[in-house]
Amino acid sequence: MATNVVIGAQWGDEGKGKVVDLYTEFADMVVRFQGGNNAGHTLVVERDGELEKTVLHLIPSGILHEDTRCVIASGVVLDPGVLIEEIEGLRAQGYSVEPDQLVVAENASVIMPYHQTLDVARESDDSQQKIGTTGRGIGPCYEDRVGRRAIFARDLTDEARLRRKIGSNLAEKNQILSSMGADTYETDELVERCLEWGEQLEPFVVDAGRLVDEAVQRDERVLFEGAQGTMLDIGHGTYPYVTSSHTTSGGVCVGAGIAPRDIGGVVGISKAYCTRVGRGPFPTELDNEAGEHLREVGNEFGSTTGRPRRCGWVDVAGLRYAHRVNGFSGLAVTKLDVLSGLDTVKICVGYTDEDGKRYDQPPSDPDLLEALDPVYEELPGWEDDITGVRVLEDLPDAARQFLNRLETLLEVPIVLVSVGPARNETIVVENVYH
Ligand code: IMP
Repeated sequence: MATNVVIGAQWGDEGKGKVVDLYTEFADMVVRFQGGNNAGHTLVVERDGELEKTVLHLIPSGILHEDTRCVIASGVVLDPGVLIEEIEGLRAQGYSVEPDQLVVAENASVIMPYHQTLDVARESDDSQQKIGTTGRGIGPCYEDRVGRRAIFARDLTDEARLRRKIGSNLAEKNQILSSMGADTYETDELVERCLEWGEQLEPFVVDAGRLVDEAVQRDERVLFEGAQGTMLDIGHGTYPYVTSSHTTSGGVCVGAGIAPRDIGGVVGISKAYCTRVGRGPFPTELDNEAGEHLREVGNEFGSTTGRPRRCGWVDVAGLRYAHRVNGFSGLAVTKLDVLSGLDTVKICVGYTDEDGKRYDQPPSDPDLLEALDPVYEELPGWEDDITGVRVLEDLPDAARQFLNRLETLLEVPIVLVSVGPARNETIVVENVYH
């Protein structure tokens, strides 16, 4: 089976963009199967001798490789304005973005302006539970899909259908929005906006599920690119402090429409430490000098919202759980270089409650998780700059000891270690597309 899935093993921002970019070199097709423009990948690629930065929120990073087909599958929530902006931005940078390189599932749900307004209104309403969302309308859009009110990408060129769906949606949405003191919307105005989007996106909108399945059956190398992370999964994360989609490997089947038997490898991505944005429990969070070191050296500020990320030690109890729900065939450890310069490094191996009861995985109740204390193993740190290292054997002993311990505790082989942001600052232990 030539398919691989890349999944965030923590709370998102694990450096999936770089790993996906590396694997894309070998992939024929890259598929986004969940989430929307709440995600953000910063890619640093050398072009004509210069390092160039590209930030993508929706389009799979495979788009930087001309021969790789990129798919936005039906499990994604699609903000058409953001997609059009990304297409135009890439073209302005000199990349080709044609319908044979990028396709959008006709049944991907459209994030409407009222979804975003509702998301922001809820987050600023004191009577509502605050999640710390990205404010992109992700949750309200998924709610409408589950509520059977979704507007699909294919609807964007069908005026009669748009008028009918938007009219009935607004009858309800405007009441909610005005009760919260937020902006309301007119059907005519939104139909007009949708038709403009539809005109620009029509060439890209196809039966993407069929295309993905055909590629899988032809045994092409297909890469499924997860967004966010396991602990933000709507079903298996630290609910309610989660996103609204299935970020785990099972999400590939429902989000891209392929059979479980067609999933080959599942690569979990974990930082050598841990971060989280938004609210919710975070057992290994640090509020000290080491945490500050991780934030500053790791440049832990969100690429979508710019928010400073909460930082802490790597949590093997959390990773054990991530392995349980995803079935990792390999682990990629990112940002190992950020730990350089610390006297000692810690690995959380479990938690205890106030009565001394041990937990080797996070409990599903976030209030209980919040109340638990991490149990650490402390290992020696290392001083050396490791960004130039390309094989495990050249790492300082303490860094190797750290990786060995992670591998032993988790019982998942490490397939890749990232030692810097650039594409080549990587130790490839095993190529998953061999
Ligand atoms: P939403 O996805 O905007 O609804 O946000 C729900 C939660 O998921 C919030 O805690 C966000 O900070 C978090 N979240 C959403 N997308 C990302 C991401 O790409 N990286 C990290 N956290 C994210």
